[in-house]
Amino acid sequence: MKQVDAVAPLRKAVVSLPGKVALVPTMGNLHEGHLTLVRRARELADHVVVSIFVNPLQFDREQDLQAYPRTEAEDLGLLQSEGVDIAFTPSTGAIYPDSMEVHTRVEVPGISDIFCGASRPGHFVGVSTIVCKLFNMVQPQTAVFGKKDFQQLLVIRRMVEDLAIPVEIIGVDTVREEDGLAMSSRNNYLDPEQRGVAPALYRTLKQTSEALQKGDRNYLQLEERAAERIAAAGLRPDYFGIRRAVDLGVPRQDDTRLVILGAAFLGIARLIDNLEVDLR
Ligand code: PAF
Repeated sequence: MKQVDAVAPLRKAVVSLPGKVALVPTMGNLHEGHLTLVRRARELADHVVVSIFVNPLQFDREQDLQAYPRTEAEDLGLLQSEGVDIAFTPSTGAIYPDSMEVHTRVEVPGISDIFCGASRPGHFVGVSTIVCKLFNMVQPQTAVFGKKDFQQLLVIRRMVEDLAIPVEIIGVDTVREEDGLAMSSRNNYLDPEQRGVAPALYRTLKQTSEALQKGDRNYLQLEERAAERIAAAGLRPDYFGIRRAVDLGVPRQDDTRLVILGAAFLGIARLIDNLEVDLR
């Protein structure tokens, strides 16, 4: 595996790879969820590039950025054993050579402003800007993202469509712990007691999904009941919403492809999760 930390050597290394290239963008602190994305990328392409970059532009709070776990040596070992071709580990200066304040931004309006976008203003502008840059730097044919960040996946799909970026976007199912908790770097912030409470978010998503499957279409009431359940379990709900899976629009009674999205605070962690529901 080749490790490169600047754009010129990255381009040189990518050009030397014959065949199809898949990109897996990450912020490091890799776990089984990321490795599943890497394995899917290997199935889809001849070569895999993984980027590790904690992107300051997508953090709305400096404290959150500073606290984000950085485990580069371990990450590189894992990528090596997964057969990754190139690890791209740029410094902030390599991505934002001048100040971030004057840097061009990519904004996907509407969908970027709800749910996680409402709780973390500017977050998705940071995500779409860095993903667009990584696409231009690596020029992959395919890019792989986790469905755990379902809203992020839709923002990226819209960006690629709107800007005619020739990259195929693949979403991969969320990898869960045995008790259902979605794998996330942010789970590291939970103490043992909080870790016991955390699966309540997924349990509530499942209960809501079951109610929808049984024919309950009172979305508002289901959302309210879910938020109450999450609070009763000891989490502080941020949002809970039942939306159309294709664009996060408010569903009509006869919509059949839905997604339930939830976010909640637990200590210093903010957990997010979602569940797609197919009522066809
Ligand atoms: O999902 C993430 O880890 C990040 O938002 C991404 C896509 C790597 C952009 O920084």
